[in-house]
Amino acid sequence: MLTPRHRGGLMAAAAAVTMAVPVVVMTADAAAAANRYEAETAPATCAGLIEANHAGYTGSGFCNGDNAVGAAVQFTVTAPAAGTATIGIRYANGATTDRPADVLVNGVTVRPGTAFGPTGAWETWTTRTLTVTVNSGSNTIRWNPTTASGLPNIDFLDLDSGGASPSATASPPPGRPPECTGGAPVTCHFGLAPGNYTVTAWIGDRASAGNTSMSVETRRRILPPISTAAGTVTPYVLTVNVRQPEGQPTGQGGTGNPGLDLTFAGSAPRLSGLTVQPASNPLVVYLAGDSTVCDQSTVPYTGWGQILPARVAAGAVVANYADSGESSGSFLSNSALFPTMKPLIRTNNLVLLQFGHNDKSTTVSAFRGNLTSMINQVRDRGGVPVLVTPPVRRLFSGSQLTGTALHINGVGVNLPAEMHNLGSSLNVPVIDLTAKSEALVESLGPTDSAQLYLRQSVDGVTDNTHFSEYGAEKMADLVVQGIRERNLPLVAYLR
Ligand code: GCU
Ligand code: CA
Repeated sequence: MLTPRHRGGLMAAAAAVTMAVPVVVMTADAAAAANRYEAETAPATCAGLIEANHAGYTGSGFCNGDNAVGAAVQFTVTAPAAGTATIGIRYANGATTDRPADVLVNGVTVRPGTAFGPTGAWETWTTRTLTVTVNSGSNTIRWNPTTASGLPNIDFLDLDSGGASPSATASPPPGRPPECTGGAPVTCHFGLAPGNYTVTAWIGDRASAGNTSMSVETRRRILPPISTAAGTVTPYVLTVNVRQPEGQPTGQGGTGNPGLDLTFAGSAPRLSGLTVQPASNPLVVYLAGDSTVCDQSTVPYTGWGQILPARVAAGAVVANYADSGESSGSFLSNSALFPTMKPLIRTNNLVLLQFGHNDKSTTVSAFRGNLTSMINQVRDRGGVPVLVTPPVRRLFSGSQLTGTALHINGVGVNLPAEMHNLGSSLNVPVIDLTAKSEALVESLGPTDSAQLYLRQSVDGVTDNTHFSEYGAEKMADLVVQGIRERNLPLVAYLR
């Protein structure tokens, strides 16, 4: 039951929704020009070359940015009124990997790590739209690449201020609700039943600069620290999954706090409003796996499933049912795990199945049988099963990982290879996290790869199986890369 206070929150949220401030980043075809700003035309700037050697651009060319972190393109645009505006950025990425960039409006990062996925060819242009808050008059909009590949080729930026009117968009953020207490961090607790909720958080403050991160429930990351200038308040809309128990489904490490808990940390947390409303039928991504995936309650242990929510936009949500110590067989049979998760699965929901670490003596027929049973049961519910091969352990022999690291188990079963076989025979997409993490760990080498796992010197414990927060971030990135490569329905919701 929602309390009257929550109903008030819902109404505030409904009003906010009419302000149309989604952070869902979507791809869309090039729309009719609103106000078009070509990347090759000043005052736009391009840290690279203006070129015209790949057809399909508009105007006289495009910006081929240098392949480097920070080789940015910047547009200076004019908005008729302060408020929300839809911007469309047209690009081509003929490379095979994402070229993420931070989006800065007037110098403030409003969208960290926005994806520029491959378009297939340098002549294939696509327009990605997102909604930002702009000032009346002149604004800078900057795309700052965060990886050494730099930006894709950039054609233009369209600015559509739509129906934004000063009166509709100048409404102040609703203020901090009484459910939120404290200063650094700010913590908020809503006594809500398990389920999925749309949370709108107004980050920033009219009067002072801030630096604010957002996490929910058991150390589940939603936003990395975001810096805001005094006077800048940006609403972030996200979908959050609440489970009971929180954290790990069998209660290992504690059962958490019933209800929805949010934490705003960072070096200077600023929260100017927060509303919560039930989410209607989001795309749920269920995670079924072990301790390398689960919501770990205790620092420094971090599952990649705790970082994945930071990559997923509103309208989609991660529900992490992974649990420490589980094998394909124990996850299937433990009533707190697969049997609890299964009835919640709805049509088109994704179910990522990652097992192997604890299948140390599972025979090939048992491993196949367990996974096949889960795949069939997910399909019975209308869900979409996805096999994720287990991330490697950090066990080197010279400069190469050992068979144990690569999940050849104690009875000689090559578990990742069996997942591939099953994927082919049952037509289930496979994300090869074993191969991806093997490449990452081997490229870092025996010494530098230690930072992905737990180190005595830093973490007080040596552990070459479980991830540090940094390692979990890297694993989540590799899973996201696999989601893009397999073009799973979540792609439309990646941020
Ligand atoms: C190729 C392509 C360029 C592109 C570059 C890149 O050289 O021709 O247009 O910018 O790759 O990888 O950034
Ligand atoms: Ca380039």
